[in-house]
Amino acid sequence: MRILSGIQSSGRLHIGNYFGMMQPAIALQAEGETFYFIANYHALTTVTDPAVLRENSWRVAVDLLACGFDPEKGALFLQTDVPQVTELAWIISTVAPKSLLEKAHSYKDKIARGLPASVGLFSYPVLMAADILIYESDVVPVGKDQKQHIEITRDLAMKMNETFGEIFKLPEARIKATTAIVPGLDGQKMSKSYNNTIDLFGDEKDTRKRVMGIVTDSTPVDSPKDPAKSIIFQLYSLMANAAEQKTMRDRFAAGGTGYGDFKKELFDKLWSYFEPMRKRRLEILADQGYVDRVLQRGAERANAAADKVMARVRKATGLERKP
Ligand code: ADP
Ligand code: TRP
Repeated sequence: MRILSGIQSSGRLHIGNYFGMMQPAIALQAEGETFYFIANYHALTTVTDPAVLRENSWRVAVDLLACGFDPEKGALFLQTDVPQVTELAWIISTVAPKSLLEKAHSYKDKIARGLPASVGLFSYPVLMAADILIYESDVVPVGKDQKQHIEITRDLAMKMNETFGEIFKLPEARIKATTAIVPGLDGQKMSKSYNNTIDLFGDEKDTRKRVMGIVTDSTPVDSPKDPAKSIIFQLYSLMANAAEQKTMRDRFAAGGTGYGDFKKELFDKLWSYFEPMRKRRLEILADQGYVDRVLQRGAERANAAADKVMARVRKATGLERKP
C-alpha cells in the first residue's frame, strides 16, 4: 500500500495539523510505504516572501521529524524536488473541467477572505491531483477540510483515464473521525488563516497565553458546565486517556470549578504531551546536515517513483519526441 500526504509550508504548524493529519499519517507508517512532502509550490499561492517560504519549508521538515516521521520507513521531501508534478498538473489541466474547480470550497473561502483570485489559487486542486497521482497513491491521510480535494483528484483521474486510457489508480482519503476537525481558540476549525491556533512548537509563555484565551461561555464557577460544548474539554480529550477524560467530564458536570482552572489543566497536559517531541526537535536541530540528508534521500525515492509514472503519461498522451 502506498500512502501519501502533503502539508503546506505556509506558516507554523499547529495542534490541528498535528492531530488531524500528522499523527494519523505518522501512525500509517506501520502499514505501508509512505511518501510525505512539504507542499511549497502550493504555499506559493499565499506566501510571497522568499525568505519566509524557505524558512517555513525547512521548519515543516524539522517538525515532522520531531513528531516521529521515520525516514527509514518512508520518503520525506520537498514538493519542488520533484518538479515533474508541475508538468503532470499541466497535462491534467487540459482535461480538467473548469466547472469542477469552481465548486472547490477552499478556493471560494480564500477569495472570500480577500486573497487575490490568481490562476494558481484556482488550479490548486489540479496540482494536488498531480501530487497524489504521480506517486500511484492508494491512501491519503488528511483532515476533513481536504476531503473535497481528494474527491476532485478522483474525478480528474477518471477523466484522464477516459481520455487517455487507464493510466491512474484512484486514491482514497483517510480521515480520522475523532480528529477530523480540531477546534481553534474561538471554536471555529483551528487554522492559521483564522489566527486561532495553538502552535505545535510555540514557546511556553505564548502557549499558556493562547490556552488561557480559549473562548468560554459565562457559566458561573459554581454551576455545572457542559463538557460536550467546551473547547477546553475537546482539546483536552485529544491528549488525555479515558480515565482522565472521565475525571474532567465529571468535574464539569459537578460545578465548582471555573474555566480558568480547566484551562490551566489543559495547558499542563499539552505541555507535557509534546515534551518528548520538543526534545527530539532540539536534537534534530543540533545534528548538522541531518535534515538535508533526509530530504535528499526522500527526493531521490520520490523522483524514481514519479519518473516511472511520467514515462507512462507521456506515452499515453503522445508527448514524446518520435512518433
Ligand atoms: P491550515 O488550515 O492551518 O492552513 P493546512 O491547510 O496547511 O492548515 O492543513 C494541513 C493538514 O492539516 C491538512 O491535512 C488539514 O486537513 C489538516 N488540518 C488543518 N487544520 C486542521 C484542523 N483544525 N483539524 C483537523 N485537521 C486539520
Ligand atoms: N492542500 C493540502 C493542505 O492544504 C496540502 C497538499 C498538497 C496535499 N498536495 C497534497 C495533501 C497531496 C495531500 C495530498 O493541507
